Amino acid sequence: MSQITVLDHPLIQHKLTLLRQKETPVADFRRIAREISLLACYELTRDLPLEDVTIETPLEAMTGRHISGKKLCLVSILRAGNGILEGMLDAVPNARVGHIGLYRDPTTLQPVEYYMKVPEDISERLVIVVDPMLATGHSAAAAISRLKAAGASQLRFVCLISAPEGLKVLTEAHPDVEVFTCAVDRQLDDHGYIRPGLGDAGDRLFGTK
Ligand code: URA
Repeated sequence: MSQITVLDHPLIQHKLTLLRQKETPVADFRRIAREISLLACYELTRDLPLEDVTIETPLEAMTGRHISGKKLCLVSILRAGNGILEGMLDAVPNARVGHIGLYRDPTTLQPVEYYMKVPEDISERLVIVVDPMLATGHSAAAAISRLKAAGASQLRFVCLISAPEGLKVLTEAHPDVEVFTCAVDRQLDDHGYIRPGLGDAGDRLFGTK
């Protein structure tokens, strides 16, 4: 698998177009973000290893298959990551969840950490880091560095929209991390927003502006 995968499933692309539109109200934005996240989770877990398990149907014993090893760990980059966390959990309800709080310094656009809580056994899990917008890539790269320092060794990153600049920063900083994005947009603007993008994902999810 190449390091960057664009999730081009028609349902994802259709829903992403709805999400981008400025008229989309908060409740719809939240719901659609959740729906896309479920579909994205489905796509990025395609290659999870399975193992045989013997079960009994009401009629006879059979060999079924279930996902082997420990369940996933989803890590949300606060706060906008929470907007896609729920949809991912719809797909993998037993996943463990971590949170990392990073904000972008408005002047330098560099990430500053203010919170981190992750499962103790994170080193034994496939970790999926979620953030809707991969803009400069600095927050994602910093979050992944922190998770590696906490013991995570198998990581994926998923977002709704990425900028080419952010993809470059993230993949150069962490060539071992697979990146899943629903779209690669044109560019970052001078304020660090992705163009055409969808605006500020946190504000649109939580109605703060
Ligand atoms: N964060 C957002 O919410 N939107 C952008 O366009 C860039 C970063």
